[in-house]
Amino acid sequence: MTKDKFEPRIIGYLCNWCSYAGADLAGVSRFQYPTNIRVIRMMCSGRLDPVVILETFIRGADGVMVGGCHIGDCHYMDGNHHAQRKIWLTHAIMKRAGFDPARLRLEWISASEGDRFAEVVSDLTDQLTKMGPSPLKGEKPDPEVLERIRAAQRVVEDFRIRALISKEYKLTTEGNVYGEVLEEDYIKDTILEAMDAEYTRNQILMETTDKAMSVKEIASAIDVPSPAVLNHVVRLRQKNLLTLASIDETTPKYKAMGGGM
Ligand code: FES
Repeated sequence: MTKDKFEPRIIGYLCNWCSYAGADLAGVSRFQYPTNIRVIRMMCSGRLDPVVILETFIRGADGVMVGGCHIGDCHYMDGNHHAQRKIWLTHAIMKRAGFDPARLRLEWISASEGDRFAEVVSDLTDQLTKMGPSPLKGEKPDPEVLERIRAAQRVVEDFRIRALISKEYKLTTEGNVYGEVLEEDYIKDTILEAMDAEYTRNQILMETTDKAMSVKEIASAIDVPSPAVLNHVVRLRQKNLLTLASIDETTPKYKAMGGGM
């Protein structure tokens, strides 16, 4: 496939009450827009799981568009606030995994904005055409990128990350059980820190699934400084996820116990 003829494939997750109706209006109004998007209707943008977004990329989408009601108009009150936070998390983990976050876009489109739906799809199609095909597309996806996105998927499945992201809106608007409203930046930094640690630990487990490795070898394979890797190795051993497989002269080598985190 040459880059000139490249036609991006976009998957659009649209909420039933606003964006899907906007897409419908674009159709009946005969607004012109590229046919690159395939739409999946959902009840609310807040229902979309970051795991599903990453799986959509793994299955070969060049871009993903999430459409919801404008802030204040969600039919389930605060669903789009949750969508906003989930997309923020997905962008962050995509960036950490070296997969361009610009391939994922969140847009608010009301039922009366058929023209806006057409504009957004045209704009995203242009942008993805310039970016070229996703490295995960086709029969032979880039194995390194695939491994990194699989690690990212395991991070967004993590219970602590999910709990933090689902509570973030409430903690920064209504407050915690003591009525303290927390700073958004503080929560976001906490989530990013937890996300980064989970991602690195998943990478270590993936690297050591088939062969025992030293801290230095792991550090070089995942491009993380050895002292940080050592800290994660200790933590993974405490959780019985990593074992000391052998000692090569004086160098310990570790291997994943299997089963993941
Ligand atoms: Fe549209 Fe929630 S119903 S974003």
